[in-house]
Amino acid sequence: MLSNNKNLIAVIGATGQQGGGVVRALQASSQFKVRALSRNPGKHRELAEEVVEADLNRPETLKAAFEGAHGVFLVTNYREAGADEIKQATAVVRAAKDAGVEHFIWSTLPDVEQISGGKFHVPHFTGKARIDRIVKEAGFPHHTFVIAPGYYQNFVGFLAPQKLAEGSVGWALPLDPDVRCLHMGDITELGKIVAGAFAHTDEAGNGEYLPLVGDFMSFNEIVDTLNRQGHKFSFKQVPKEVFATFFPGAAELAEMFGYWEAYTYLGSDSHDRIALANKIAGRQPTKFSTWVRANVPVQTP
Ligand SMILES: NC(=O)c1ccc[n+]([C@@H]2O[C@H](COP(=O)([O-])OP(=O)(O)OC[C@H]3O[C@@H](n4cnc5c(N)ncnc54)[C@H](OP(=O)(O)O)[C@@H]3O)[C@@H](O)[C@H]2O)c1
Repeated sequence: MLSNNKNLIAVIGATGQQGGGVVRALQASSQFKVRALSRNPGKHRELAEEVVEADLNRPETLKAAFEGAHGVFLVTNYREAGADEIKQATAVVRAAKDAGVEHFIWSTLPDVEQISGGKFHVPHFTGKARIDRIVKEAGFPHHTFVIAPGYYQNFVGFLAPQKLAEGSVGWALPLDPDVRCLHMGDITELGKIVAGAFAHTDEAGNGEYLPLVGDFMSFNEIVDTLNRQGHKFSFKQVPKEVFATFFPGAAELAEMFGYWEAYTYLGSDSHDRIALANKIAGRQPTKFSTWVRANVPVQTP
């Protein structure tokens, strides 16, 4: 197919972990032309065939960003200072509708308030779930929800093992380490599900929920997987109230761990959704042990 006959997909977050994987998967499938969106397009010219400015806090930038696009992938970043995810997503949905976008894919998370009957408050999950209705009601010819799992990459990021009070290295978290509750995955692989959904609108373009899940583990299983490869990590369960005082933002994380323990990360039996996501991606996602071998080197003293 000639390059100019390919459907154009505009990717928000193209310079980040989720959107970066989406850009690479779309490029690898060679069915699509990619427009990478960034607040600083000049710094990322090599990212895709087109690199265009888009700022979710400046809706006036979105008209040109979506012009001529067949599809849009949206991820919002709750960690960005001052980000109002619902306001940002509303602006994106409106601009995509105005531009005549045919297929909208939104990276969502479970509705913790609803699942837990209001027992747990995890705004960065529930805030995303509340955007689902805005996407659904916009009336795109096709729309899809993808669900990012707990990133394996967190284990070399904000969840990296720490020196514990008793001198060992590992995790002190408000979570029962025996409870299998964590749906996890290599976040760079979310893009394969997204590219598959853009390519298979019949099977995945009608409001389906497609979670990326490479493994489903308890924290003891996580620690065992690492230690079988030569690490010497430990886990200590700490009370939620104590953990909440450890650092700014710890209280919300404590709520999140409480929700995982009670309901699991995805909040429900997601077997069918995971199976469909893997089918749409055309592959099984990488297991945690394989990812660890490649990405978490054993420290020699
Ligand atoms: N860590 C986890 O385990 C986990 C699990 C599930 C979901 N999540 C969610 O993942 C989201 C973050 O995604 P990520 O990991 O891909 O983030 P990331 O790697 O930190 O990248 C953030 C991306 O967002 C873009 N961005 C931020 N503010 C923007 C704005 N105002 N306008 C346009 N683009 C903007 C940035 O683009 P430029 O800087 O180029 O403009 C960048 O590409 C968070 O909302 C978090 O809740 C995380």
